[in-house]
Amino acid sequence: MLAVEDVHLAYGASIALRGVSLELHKGEVTCLLGRNGVGKTSLLRAIAGQLPIKAGKVVLDGQDLARLPTHGRARAGLALVPQGREVFPRLTVQENLETGFAARRSGRIEEHLYELFPVLKQMLHRKGGDLSGGQQQQLAIARALVTDPTVLLLDEPTEGIQPNIVDQIGEVVAGLARTGRMAILLVEQYLDFAFRHADQILVMDRGRIVLAGAANEIDPEEVRRLVAV
Ligand SMILES: Nc1ncnc2c1ncn2[C@@H]1O[C@H](COP(=O)(O)OP(=O)(O)O)[C@@H](O)[C@H]1O
Ligand SMILES: [Mg+2]
Repeated sequence: MLAVEDVHLAYGASIALRGVSLELHKGEVTCLLGRNGVGKTSLLRAIAGQLPIKAGKVVLDGQDLARLPTHGRARAGLALVPQGREVFPRLTVQENLETGFAARRSGRIEEHLYELFPVLKQMLHRKGGDLSGGQQQQLAIARALVTDPTVLLLDEPTEGIQPNIVDQIGEVVAGLARTGRMAILLVEQYLDFAFRHADQILVMDRGRIVLAGAANEIDPEEVRRLVAV
């Protein structure tokens, strides 16, 4: 349903993506792995329309998103949970969630969001900056879900988060995929997490996808070798 076709991206003279192609499918979790600096964040931001691409295509349900700006892509069904979460520290949890409305497709914050993240309901009136890292990550994911996306992009959602919350996030992501309503692309550092939750695994190196396959078919040792620092 989402196809990235031969995408090239550069920051001035510095080339970040050298012809990336991939496909995401509804109901599936795709994990994107790779060492620091190989272009993972650039790829997600290019898909979300936050960075202009030099060449290639991003096609959602047959529609070329090329000229659609970020907010147009959100309306088309794309949502990005950025690396580092980017929760607004001085806004309350509720206000942070409401910022998702700017790009909303459904009308209000649905109760099921609080079922996914009960802790947010208890903390609705607390400031974003007062939450723990794990709670902020849950808030960042919930804020993306407010837009009712069909493609959810998550950039290192488990970075710097304590293990029990990592598990919770994994369960939520897997649960979202199981609804069959969205395709999920998740950048991940932990191989265990990737192999536990992914249907498809992609490994990037220096601006290219160098290994791709079904999680139950791909060679874990080869993946490990490519992401080892
Ligand atoms: N805003 C930027 N300006 C210039 N170069 C950048 C910028 N953002 C990222 N880069 C460079 O692009 C490459 C890919 O970065 P990034 O996509 O953040 O990688 P990853 O997410 O895999 O760590 C790196 O070499 C990085 O230094
Ligand atoms: Mg990154």
